[in-house]
Amino acid sequence: MVDVWRVDASAPARQLIQAAAQRLREGGLVVFPTETVYGLGAHALNPLAVRRVFSLKGRPSSNPLIVHVATFEQARELTADWPAAAERLARRFWPGPLTLVLTKRPHVPPEVTAGGPTVGVRIPSHPVALALLQEAAVPVAAPSANRSAEISPTRAEHVLRSLGNKADFLLLDAGPCPGGVESTVLDMTASPPRLLRPGLITLPMLQEVIGPVAVGPSHTMQEPLRSPGLMPRHYAPHTPLYLIPQQQLETERQRCEREGLRCGIVRLPDDPVCAAAVLYDELHRLDATGYDLLLAPLLPETDEWQAVRDRLARAAHR
Ligand code: TXA
Ligand code: MG
Repeated sequence: MVDVWRVDASAPARQLIQAAAQRLREGGLVVFPTETVYGLGAHALNPLAVRRVFSLKGRPSSNPLIVHVATFEQARELTADWPAAAERLARRFWPGPLTLVLTKRPHVPPEVTAGGPTVGVRIPSHPVALALLQEAAVPVAAPSANRSAEISPTRAEHVLRSLGNKADFLLLDAGPCPGGVESTVLDMTASPPRLLRPGLITLPMLQEVIGPVAVGPSHTMQEPLRSPGLMPRHYAPHTPLYLIPQQQLETERQRCEREGLRCGIVRLPDDPVCAAAVLYDELHRLDATGYDLLLAPLLPETDEWQAVRDRLARAAHR
C-alpha cells in the first residue's frame, strides 16, 4: 500500500520525520524529496531493502545506486579512500546536488554498487531529505523515484503516476523539487576526475575547485557503460520527442497539425537554472496530454545548459 504524507518543505514536522526514518531503518521504502528530484529510499546496508528498490523500479541490477548521507563522517565511513579533491568538493558543494564516486568499503553491499568497487555518495540539501537522513542515522540508497528509463519525478504526482498504486512505500510529499534535474555525478577514482552525468553543479564550477576534469562519454559514444545513467535512452516520455531549432518550432507544429498530428511544444524559460527546475514537469504534463508527438528546442552549446541539453537529448533518443 502507498501512504502519502504531506510535509512542510522547509520545516517538516518532527513526528512525521521520525516515523519515516523508522520505516527506513526497518527496511521499508520511503520516497522523499531532494533539491534535485524525488528519491526512492532504502537502508543502504540492508540488501533485501535495496533489492526491493530495483524490483519496484524495474531497474537493471547493473545500474548502481547513489547513497545519501547526512554528514561527512558517514560519507567517509562508506569509502575506502577520501582524496583531498573530494574533501574540497564536498566542502564547497555539500549539502547539494553533487555525487562523488569513490572506492567503497567492503561493508557496502554489492546490491548498491552493482557489484562494482565504487560507491556514489552525496549529502542532499533539501530540508526534508536532510532531516530524514539525520533522524534515520543510516546511509540511504535512493535512485530517482520513477520506473527505470522514464522521466524523473519532481512532484509527488509524478511518483504516483510512474510507480503506481500497487507498490508498498511511504511518500513524503513536500511539493515540487527546486532543482529539477538529477545531481552532477563525478568519478573521483579517475585521474583527472571524470564527469559522468552533468547537473546543476557545472563543469566550470567543478574545475574552479579542483582544476582539470575529464568529461564522460557523450550519449552517442559506444564505450562500455561506466555509469549506466549514460545509457542513451533515458528520462524519456512515452510520446515521441524531436529536437529542432527554436525558431522552427511554431512552423513545424503547424505543418504537423495540417497532417492531422496533434503536436505539443516543450516550452522552457530562457535561463538554464529555471529551465532545469521546470523541465521534467513540462515533459510529464505534455506526455499525459495525449499528443502524437512533442517538439523541443535545441539548446545553446554552453556549460550552463549542459544538464538540460543532456536530459532532452536522452529524452529524444530512439
Ligand atoms: O539527484 C540525484 O542524484 C537523484 C536524487 C534522488 O538524489 N538520484 C538519482 O539516482 O538520480 P539515479 O539512480 O536515478 O541515478 C544515479 C546515477 C546513475 O547514472 C548511476 O549509474 C550513477 O548515478 N552511479 C551511481 N553509483 C555509481 C558508481 N558507483 N559508479 C558510477 N556511476 C554511479
Ligand atoms: Mg534515475
